[in-house]
Amino acid sequence: MVKRQFPNPVELAKLMKFKAPELNGKKRRLDSALTIYDLKAIAKRRTPKAAFDYTDGSAEGELSLSRARQAFEDIEFHPSILRDASNVDTTTQILGGTSAMPFGIAPTGFTRLMQTEGEIAGAGAAAAAGIPFTLSTLGTSSIEDVKAANPEGRNWFQLYVMRDRDISYGLVERAAAAGFDTLMFTVDTPVAGARLRDKRNGFSIPPQLTVGTIMNAIPRPWWWFDFLTTPPLEFASLASTGGTVGELLDSAMDPSIDYHDLTIIRDMWPGKIVIKGVQNLEDSKRLADLGVDSILLSNHGGRQLDRAPIPFHLLPNVVREVGNDVEVMVDTGIMNGADIVASMALGAKFTLIGRAYLYGLMAGGREGVDRTIEILSEQVIRTMKLLEVTSIEELEPKHVTQLQRLVPRG
Ligand SMILES: Cc1cc2nc3c(=O)[nH]c(=O)nc-3n(C[C@H](O)[C@H](O)[C@H](O)COP(=O)(O)O)c2cc1C
Repeated sequence: MVKRQFPNPVELAKLMKFKAPELNGKKRRLDSALTIYDLKAIAKRRTPKAAFDYTDGSAEGELSLSRARQAFEDIEFHPSILRDASNVDTTTQILGGTSAMPFGIAPTGFTRLMQTEGEIAGAGAAAAAGIPFTLSTLGTSSIEDVKAANPEGRNWFQLYVMRDRDISYGLVERAAAAGFDTLMFTVDTPVAGARLRDKRNGFSIPPQLTVGTIMNAIPRPWWWFDFLTTPPLEFASLASTGGTVGELLDSAMDPSIDYHDLTIIRDMWPGKIVIKGVQNLEDSKRLADLGVDSILLSNHGGRQLDRAPIPFHLLPNVVREVGNDVEVMVDTGIMNGADIVASMALGAKFTLIGRAYLYGLMAGGREGVDRTIEILSEQVIRTMKLLEVTSIEELEPKHVTQLQRLVPRG
């Protein structure tokens, strides 16, 4: 029999701890997000459907992205034991400089559409966290404004080589003059991927007001208030032509770009160069032979070729073959700091986050991006401690295996 007694009011009073309510709604919202998926849920509530879907969606059946995320979920970690893991050092060396964390912010176009602070929020958050920020050719803040938001930190510039070469070359010169230390040349975009959500939503830049968009705007007044009371959304570095995003991309991209363009760009650029969108070993070797500084294994977050190889799966082979000659980076599908730790263990020198950053931005502007970086950083540190490694260099392939479901045959 359990012995019972009357509750003692003094003991009961000790259990009652009421926190003062958080009056700042944004802080309350962001503090309640414990994962990037939580930020995504907040972002979805606060952002018009067309802008959220543009960010969240990928191409065709969206298989490239879901497979990439699945591959990270299928990681099995193998921790060591009885090693002192009181302190971990997450500092990472990449492209001749340091980053406080083994991840940086990937280039994204149209960023002010997601939330009006756009790239400035990203660059400011990167500056505060000591990680690199990448500005897209299709960015909605200028090269110079990004530099002003991250004056001491590392800024990288992502280049699309467009039909009008002079526009592209002009951007390269401006980025160099503004002190950006790295040029990221994207090579997986001969044409735009089929972003079906955008087509179904009739998504265009600038957004069009229809009955549907107005109904969707009613529960999201703050987004529209921001949109209508801040400078118009336009490309800060390019003259846009209007139309759907696919039409815009297709008018800007040049499907004829080849290795000759790489030679020209390399001659123009004084800093480090990364090729973004490498998807096989053969190209990795060729680029290593050409002496580029880095390759980024990426399928553009699943937004270009659907059913493309999972970048995380390419990593071990590519690192084995060219890892001594080029710095191998990886992106696509990262939603957790553990994904980053696993990539580093398999030999990546660095990782980039696209949507994880944008979900934070849509959930709460600059503070939302800070929260993304905080969540991922805590996850990186906790995973490293649980693996009982104390520095990025100590992470090794032995710490990670993959469940077999998504491993390619042959
Ligand atoms: C909304 C959005 C816009 C993007 N715009 C660009 C771009 O302008 N240039 C580029 O090279 N990559 C662009 N990307 C791809 C990202 O740089 C990155 O490769 C991708 O987001 C990584 O996958 P993740 O979103 O799963 O992290 C974009 C991605 C998203 C989600």
